[in-house]
Amino acid sequence: MSYSEFALHSLRSNQEISGDSVPILVAKRLEGKVALITGGASGIGASTAKLFARHGAKVVIVDIQDDLGSLICNENQNIEFIHCDVTQENDVKNAVDTTISKYGKLDIMFSNAGFAGSSRSFEISTYNIDDFKKFFDVNVNGAFLCAKHAARVMMPVKKGSIIFTSSVASVINGETSHGYAVSKHAVVGLTKNLCVELGQYGIRVNCISPYGVATPMMTKILGLDQGKCEEIVHESANLKGIAVKAEDVAEAVVYLGSDESRYISGLNLVIDGGYSVTTPAFKMAVAAHFSNQ
Ligand SMILES: NC(=O)c1ccc[n+]([C@@H]2O[C@H](COP(=O)([O-])OP(=O)(O)OC[C@H]3O[C@@H](n4cnc5c(N)ncnc54)[C@H](O)[C@@H]3O)[C@@H](O)[C@H]2O)c1
Repeated sequence: MSYSEFALHSLRSNQEISGDSVPILVAKRLEGKVALITGGASGIGASTAKLFARHGAKVVIVDIQDDLGSLICNENQNIEFIHCDVTQENDVKNAVDTTISKYGKLDIMFSNAGFAGSSRSFEISTYNIDDFKKFFDVNVNGAFLCAKHAARVMMPVKKGSIIFTSSVASVINGETSHGYAVSKHAVVGLTKNLCVELGQYGIRVNCISPYGVATPMMTKILGLDQGKCEEIVHESANLKGIAVKAEDVAEAVVYLGSDESRYISGLNLVIDGGYSVTTPAFKMAVAAHFSNQ
């Protein structure tokens, strides 16, 4: 390719990425990579799949929402959909094996499918053990199965990046149900333990911990529309002036999947604009004290 052809190619690619008339210079950071994304039919998984594809990756999304998954891959030739319930080992094995048959390798496993339950009261004295177990089925056992089958195909080639979705509930407590919070802590434990075993094989293992993002998971739990959910998140956020989107989370996943993070492993990357490093409780109590005088 001549220099002018290369320049034209870059310009076109970057226009595709920026989606507007003013090109932004963005490199294709996942060119040549093959990724599998669970929970890829909606929210953070769907945004990540689209961003991965824009960065040059071949992407396989898996989910139990077949209609939504198929819709995404119909709109993007670099994204494929496979039905997979991450709680079922045969489904996960099939998704990994189908990816290998089609593309010959798996560079990135983004284990992101999650279950958040409902907004019902979560007091321990009335908490049903079966409800508690449901969080583990998807959030922990599902992540375990994804890691197991990704490692199976990554270990022989001695490279790969496994990324889990945990939650800010892994670092700040009392804001979600016990089942959700404990399962997301477990995901961080899985990340760190696996990072040690798989480091011997050149495989990196990290997780991301987002704060509230107005995806269908959140809108369903709160029973509010996306705009109202974003308003509430912004009101409670530390970092003002930004309504955090699934795309902001996807950017962090691109980083962890790309070679730019080639020496990062065992990290719980908290994506919360600093929410978890502070608490407004003291400031609020002082303000309440003086406003009552
Ligand atoms: N939205 C938030 O505020 C937030 C914050 C922190 C962490 N998270 C985590 O982010 C991840 C993605 O959630 P989201 O917010 O994009 O929600 P979402 O509901 O938009 O997407 C979750 C996807 O997971 C799929 N899924 C659920 N169970 C599955 C199973 N057994 N097998 C395969 N797929 C399954 C769902 O069908 C759905 O498409 C979850 O792990 C969630 O816990 C979300």
